[in-house]
Amino acid sequence: MAETLEALYAEMIECQSCKMRAGCTQVVPGAGQLIKPILLIVGEAPGAQEDEQGEPFVGAAGEILRAALRKTGIIKRTNSLITNVLKCRPPKNKFPKGEPAQTCVTKWLWEEIRLAQPERMLLLGGTPLKYVAELDGITACRGQWYNIRGIRTMATFHPSFIQRQNNSGMLSYNETFDDDIKQVALEVKAIFEKAQTKAAESQISEGKPADPV
Ligand code: URA
Repeated sequence: MAETLEALYAEMIECQSCKMRAGCTQVVPGAGQLIKPILLIVGEAPGAQEDEQGEPFVGAAGEILRAALRKTGIIKRTNSLITNVLKCRPPKNKFPKGEPAQTCVTKWLWEEIRLAQPERMLLLGGTPLKYVAELDGITACRGQWYNIRGIRTMATFHPSFIQRQNNSGMLSYNETFDDDIKQVALEVKAIFEKAQTKAAESQISEGKPADPV
């Protein structure tokens, strides 16, 4: 059993457990902070660009997501990890029903969560809502906090949905998406600041001068 995310990803990229692997270019592991990320962001599955580059959310949906994260000024690659429910691009980008997804979740996603031990999770859309939180109905569930195996977790819309709404002029969804991510960012900030204070206090109690903030 892998004991670090790096070791897990080394195993993951060799996965041949289901038929999905035959139809994609490569397995796409998570990307970002591999050691104690404060936030774990979970999407649905790699698309064409992710399949080509081997990294989650590097296509059009990724632009929407990364713009929203950037706006917070808090959620960064150094404190968060981005991954997907499914690690291989499904044929025609159609999320598979049944066995392949369940295998991927059990074999990889829950292991990722166990090893990352994030303080917070953000689920993007109905697919991670179903597989991680075992809930249905993203419109009703978004913006609320849930306790998932002890991790405070929020769900929001999937960035591809936001992109489609933006394209049809429905910009209010973008605002909701930004607001949800802002709620998560405020908690990430509080956790980060608390850790900094604790580190400074322990330096002082060891008789060392605290690092300037
Ligand atoms: N790209 C990803 O990596 N995941 C998604 O859910 C959508 C696009």
